[in-house]
Amino acid sequence: MSSAGWDARAYDESFRFVSDHAGDLVALLDPQPGERILDLGCGTGLLAAAIARRGASVVGLDSDAAMIEAARAQFPAADHPGLEFARGDGEALEECSLAGPFDAVFSNAALHWMTRPEAVLRGLRALLRPGGRLVAELGGRGNVAIVEGALRDALEAEGVPREQQPRPWYFPGLAEYAALLERHGFEPRVMTLFDRPTTLEDGEAGMAGWLRMFGHPWLADLPSDLVDAVIERVEAAVRPRLWREDGEGGGRWVADYRRLRVVAVRGGR
Ligand code: BEZ
Repeated sequence: MSSAGWDARAYDESFRFVSDHAGDLVALLDPQPGERILDLGCGTGLLAAAIARRGASVVGLDSDAAMIEAARAQFPAADHPGLEFARGDGEALEECSLAGPFDAVFSNAALHWMTRPEAVLRGLRALLRPGGRLVAELGGRGNVAIVEGALRDALEAEGVPREQQPRPWYFPGLAEYAALLERHGFEPRVMTLFDRPTTLEDGEAGMAGWLRMFGHPWLADLPSDLVDAVIERVEAAVRPRLWREDGEGGGRWVADYRRLRVVAVRGGR
């Protein structure tokens, strides 16, 4: 991860579990041939491509230039006529010149990076046809709470007071998000909040890798020796709860993921 944005290659190599876990979310979307579907926060485009393979026409949108570049390189328009990628901000969809209406909006592991959910839902409502569906998964309330708590403590111990620390993630509770959906003209049809303990790649190095990739809003502007010190503190603090020995001298980190899954339908005309 650079301070300018995401490292798309590392994301695909070491964090492929993000899209691997979402196969059944695509099944829940149940894309139909000929449908127009927006994949909000498409990353490197793996799930957008999976949806397009089912015969839908898909626009993948992501705010990060490196992700869009990687998606276009991996799924060139010439070979994937039903699949296009655009750069745009989910909190300012009206500025993205997307041609609606869409039959469905799909989003995996992206909405929790958008800390103005009202703006997102306003934009999505405007893009969806009446009766169109929103099928999404995001971190739910309590997601990575052990890691986040340790990260905040570590930063404070290293001289970054809590009130100066960012709040880059939005992990809503089920009732909170249902109410938000209703206020923005969506009818929640299915919502579940569930734990999904998630093994991080790379054994012992997995927690540091995860923190460098996803903790970037906290760490990007700190000097590298301070980043190392923070990571060491986090590892020490979370090890008793998140490290699993394999009995052969190795082991793995298991992050305390908790997901909120949503199927909602846009009401109105
Ligand atoms: C998640 O997918 O749950 C997540 C990703 C990055 C930061 C925090 C949570």
